[in-house]
Amino acid sequence: MAEIHTIAVIGAGTMGRGIACVAAVGGYRTILEDVAGSVLEQALHWIAQSLEEAVTRDKLTAEQKQQALARITTARTVEDACREADLVIEAVPEDVELKIEIFTLLDKFAKPGTIFASNTSSLSITEMAAVTCRPERCVGMHFFNPVPKMRLLEIVRALETSDETIAACAEVGRRMGKEVVIVRESPGFITSRINALIGNEAFRMLEEGIASARDIDTACKLGLNHPMGPFELVDLVGLDVRLSILEYLHKTLGERFRPSPLLVQYVKAGRLGRKAGRGVYEYREAPAEAARKAEHGSSSMATRMGGMHETERTLAEKIVLLQGDLTEMDVEAIVNAANNDLKLGGGVAGAIRRKGGEEIQRECDQIGSIPLGTAAITGAGRLKARYVIHAASMELGGRTSAETLRSATAHALRLAAQRGLKSIAFPAVGTGIAGFPMRECAEIMLHEVVEHLKGSTPLERVYFVLYDRAALETFQQVWAGMQQVGFRDTTGTP
Ligand code: CAA
Repeated sequence: MAEIHTIAVIGAGTMGRGIACVAAVGGYRTILEDVAGSVLEQALHWIAQSLEEAVTRDKLTAEQKQQALARITTARTVEDACREADLVIEAVPEDVELKIEIFTLLDKFAKPGTIFASNTSSLSITEMAAVTCRPERCVGMHFFNPVPKMRLLEIVRALETSDETIAACAEVGRRMGKEVVIVRESPGFITSRINALIGNEAFRMLEEGIASARDIDTACKLGLNHPMGPFELVDLVGLDVRLSILEYLHKTLGERFRPSPLLVQYVKAGRLGRKAGRGVYEYREAPAEAARKAEHGSSSMATRMGGMHETERTLAEKIVLLQGDLTEMDVEAIVNAANNDLKLGGGVAGAIRRKGGEEIQRECDQIGSIPLGTAAITGAGRLKARYVIHAASMELGGRTSAETLRSATAHALRLAAQRGLKSIAFPAVGTGIAGFPMRECAEIMLHEVVEHLKGSTPLERVYFVLYDRAALETFQQVWAGMQQVGFRDTTGTP
């Protein structure tokens, strides 16, 4: 059986930090990775608190707590995190493309014998394993929130997972203090499939006015002995997380998993659960709410300021239009108006290559072609930015269409958000010689950015860096028009 000494955990969010905590308690050298330094800091603080709680409850001695803390180190890149690991557990957001990207990187940088596990709650491990040269060493390890308190570990056997991999992960689970069940890969495995149905049914009952949220929760707790009611639980898990699981199960398993319209509406309204200060229930002084109050000195969503709602003003402040050189921007990521072969030729791409250095093209070559309308991320070489996000809006030498421009912009924003980035700078995409008309480009890109910023995202500043005055003025006119109608009529349709 493979010997596991070192575990790398990719992503230090709610699940990643919990997994790192139980790995360290289990005696493993643990490397916790996240691109955002602030997230890592919060994660270490949370782990220390959780270990302290375990001491208070006589689950650990003070010495065991100290030893566990000493086993944890952090890393800022997947490459650094996985180099020495025997097992890597990814706990990044539930987006199969992102997970595939992580597995691709892991396969490149990890040792040949390293096992790759995904903490996905429903997605296909087989699909992630297919991009590696070691599908027999790819597996699902599905933990539950809050990880230190929840006793189950669901181990998912993908199409080609070997018995040896399953045995090694089961042993890791036991050392982490978990009871292990093994499930053959199928959408939602055991737990998410059942839980999604219960949670969805609860939303349907609420929608039909059968009972209040409180009473539905009370009934499930006292009548069925569930530790939490379905609404308390979805507020803990995140309504967006639940919705994305349901959408996937609906697609793969059929009609009975169609998300309740009320759940969809809550997510659109930004009522994402405890993390947002508001889900089915209100959580007073949750971080997002407190930050919003601090910034605006008022908690009323309907407060009008100069004809603009408070949320709209915040949104408007996040978008900045400039005339200048994109490659000089001191932001976390700049966007390359890329072709789907990721060849950095002329225009913006050429400037990125010249100023950033050949290593950006080398990283692009390693990624290879990507589907039109998607995006990929690389380092930024010598540029001030940390990353270049390559938004593939055309074929090499080809032209941009409205749909690919829209989709590539949305993908670029999603990639930035998934990495926890706070700032990003876009050029006008696809508007080169004989390219896409500037006004339509502005309409589509600004619309996509507004829609993205209306949701839950770490992005705090989105720059549009236009190369000449005419382009800047076009963007300014479109942007002014959108603000006048309060972003309510921004279809982005050319
Ligand atoms: N380290 C280790 N153990 C700890 C601990 C720590 N930091 N803190 C508490 N514990 C132990 C406690 O000692 C206790 O164990 P014993 O019973 O052996 O004494 C146990 O954990 C429970 O602790 P609490 O007293 O704090 O627990 P509680 O009774 O208040 O319950 C809860 C809290 C466990 C969260 C419970 O409400 C519950 O089970 N809720 C449901 C949570 C759930 O369903 N989660 C799954 C969500 S779905 C998911 O995560 C997956 C996905 O794919 C989205």
